[in-house]
Amino acid sequence: MRIEPAKNLQGEPRLPGDKSISHRYAILSAMAEGRGRLQNYSDSDDCAATLECVAALGAEVEQEGREVCVQGRGWKHWRQPKSPLQARNSGTLMRLLTGPLSGMPFDSVFEGDESLSGRPMERIMRPLSEMGGRIGSRPGGLPPLHIKGRELRGIRYSPPVASAQVKSCVLLAGLVAQGSTEVVEQTHTRDHTERCLPFFGADFASRQGVLRVAGGKPLKAVDFTVPGDFSAAVFFIVAALMVPGARLRIPQVGVNPSRSGLLDLLEQAQVKIERANPREYNGEPVCDLELKHQSHVLEHFPSQLRGRWIPNLIDEIPALAVLGTRLKAGFTVRDAEELRKKECDRIRAVTENLSALGVQCEEFPDGFHIPPGQQIQGGTVKTYGDHRIAMAFAVAGLIARQAVEIDDPSCAAVSFPGFFDNLKSLAR
Ligand code: S3P
Repeated sequence: MRIEPAKNLQGEPRLPGDKSISHRYAILSAMAEGRGRLQNYSDSDDCAATLECVAALGAEVEQEGREVCVQGRGWKHWRQPKSPLQARNSGTLMRLLTGPLSGMPFDSVFEGDESLSGRPMERIMRPLSEMGGRIGSRPGGLPPLHIKGRELRGIRYSPPVASAQVKSCVLLAGLVAQGSTEVVEQTHTRDHTERCLPFFGADFASRQGVLRVAGGKPLKAVDFTVPGDFSAAVFFIVAALMVPGARLRIPQVGVNPSRSGLLDLLEQAQVKIERANPREYNGEPVCDLELKHQSHVLEHFPSQLRGRWIPNLIDEIPALAVLGTRLKAGFTVRDAEELRKKECDRIRAVTENLSALGVQCEEFPDGFHIPPGQQIQGGTVKTYGDHRIAMAFAVAGLIARQAVEIDDPSCAAVSFPGFFDNLKSLAR
């Protein structure tokens, strides 16, 4: 795929439904009793894998485009899958679903693709084993996971890594455990699980930083419209800020504050972003974003991101690195070692690809530094099969001197199958 420098960027991208939220609603709908209708369900490969997994556990799934109906049998009636469950590329699916699977009266096996098979699962194995679960893995806590279903008991857990996947895994396991389960986060991470649990009728409370869920209760089905994926919107936001004359309207974007810290940073940098028609879908804030090219972002956007900002922005860092190449004061990211454990080592992928495009940069164990005063030249980018690397460097192509070639654009479908079609029609 060849991305040419853009002369303009105008129109309305159509985002996929939020990937994090779609996973959670699919899993909880399968744990619930009754028929739930999910509109604007993410059309990503990752969320398709979730539907296949819940169907293998006995939920009836019907899908027509972005509308999905899940007839849940209730988690007490889940049945043993006939073959190993396939999480494909999705860490969220494997980490979240392993929670309740650990508490089932049957064994199961959870496999992933090559990338997922290299990602750490010890972070969920530890709390689940404290709850009485038994999970085997390859050495180093790597998939496939061999889950020996057992009765679980509630615990109080404070995750040592800032991870919404770990928090959600423990809370979902708590739903099928005896007694109550508490999670205390040291750093706040995306809170979609907390926001949706009450709608499924879960006995859930959040008080003074302690998240508590009661186990053993039945859940009820819900109808829901999934907000557009903020992390997908970010590629267009970054592009619109940098392509002269750009003007975009992005309808129905999820702007949950635990995900949309980038909007706050942009607003602090005096970037005008219109948040039109603000509304809520089951406790998830949504609005239509309107923005245009604003070159002063390059002077005012923070030249360093670190600490508590990182979990909020973790998935946006590849796209922000592209913005960073233009910032007047340069751009540094620290405290982001978690990036090395994503779909690929994103610190390495960002710095190698920036170098391949003629941008000088420095790699740190927990981030990178891009000195000021540079221009993306052009060249070939390696995605390492990582969707966010493919999309971030497509944006690099829009603002480069010469074309950027992307070696494996098809991996964008992991989160956003329509990404390149959207980009083409906006850049026309
Ligand atoms: C996600 C949490 C984050 C994020 C991932 C989705 C989720 O991962 O990077 O894309 O849906 O809970 P971690 O929990 O590993 O930080």
